[in-house]
Amino acid sequence: MTTHNLNGRIALVTGGTTGLGFGAAQCLIEAGATVYITGRRREVLDAAVEKLGEGAIGLQADVSVKADMQRVADTIKQAHGHLDILFANAGGGHATPLEQLTEEQIDSELSINVKGVVLTVQTALSVLREGASIILNASITADMGLKGFGVYAATKAAVRSLARSWTTDLRERDIRVNTVSPGVVPTEGYGKEQKMSDQDVADYVAHVSKEIPAGRVGTTRDIGNAVVFLASDASNYIRGIDLIVDGGMTRVYAGKN
Ligand SMILES: NC(=O)c1ccc[n+]([C@@H]2O[C@H](COP(=O)([O-])OP(=O)(O)OC[C@H]3O[C@@H](n4cnc5c(N)ncnc54)[C@H](OP(=O)(O)O)[C@@H]3O)[C@@H](O)[C@H]2O)c1
Repeated sequence: MTTHNLNGRIALVTGGTTGLGFGAAQCLIEAGATVYITGRRREVLDAAVEKLGEGAIGLQADVSVKADMQRVADTIKQAHGHLDILFANAGGGHATPLEQLTEEQIDSELSINVKGVVLTVQTALSVLREGASIILNASITADMGLKGFGVYAATKAAVRSLARSWTTDLRERDIRVNTVSPGVVPTEGYGKEQKMSDQDVADYVAHVSKEIPAGRVGTTRDIGNAVVFLASDASNYIRGIDLIVDGGMTRVYAGKN
């Protein structure tokens, strides 16, 4: 349970049907917000709205399609007149040896992770109120140099850069922009995007946990709580930062302790 009060706030979480987006939606609702979630798959969207319960509203939309995102912004404007919190979370990608990268994979990761974030924020400008908080989902992968993750990591480095530029672009409207960079958080994406079996995930979690000062991998609520903090007035003086939420994995050497 979070301590930040978001009573009466209107939030939009893209890709809020599973994983980190769903966890953030849960935490935002518990803090008092009304939360719009989006996703491309209708049945997954409906199931997520039902699971989230009161306070959740689903809109089927693809972040890489401008008309979809304009419809989302227009719907929120019509219903509430404004938007207080935007978590641009939808994204994904997987490791592929550089020699085997296809144009399709490059286009898909750039289209969802970069173009999608730009379209999400650009269309939301028509409904974001003065003093609103935008949080973009980046990743610790952006600066780890992980094997095979070059394009994905570059998209997340772009997201961090966008947050800094937009902090300047939107200062006149007092709209804050920050990124959150999650560490290792097993989600549906590990199976869907990375094609890992349950056993692969269990083996990876056991191995990587030893290298995390917190002694465990993250949960979707660990990230959701950070999103609530960046969405709340408690972070009002925080702008243009990248909040790393990885149990200390990339800040502290814990590998051989
Ligand atoms: N899990 C981690 O360890 C981790 C670490 C760092 C950063 N991240 C970032 O966290 C975000 C969420 O990842 P996750 O692990 O939670 O993955 P996930 O469980 O696969 O969730 C992805 C969500 O995004 C939606 N989505 C994907 N493409 C979309 C599109 N074009 N338009 C609208 N919605 C779309 C998915 O629904 P549909 O497929 O139905 O559209 C789903 O709701 C991503 O940006 C990822 O890069 C994850």
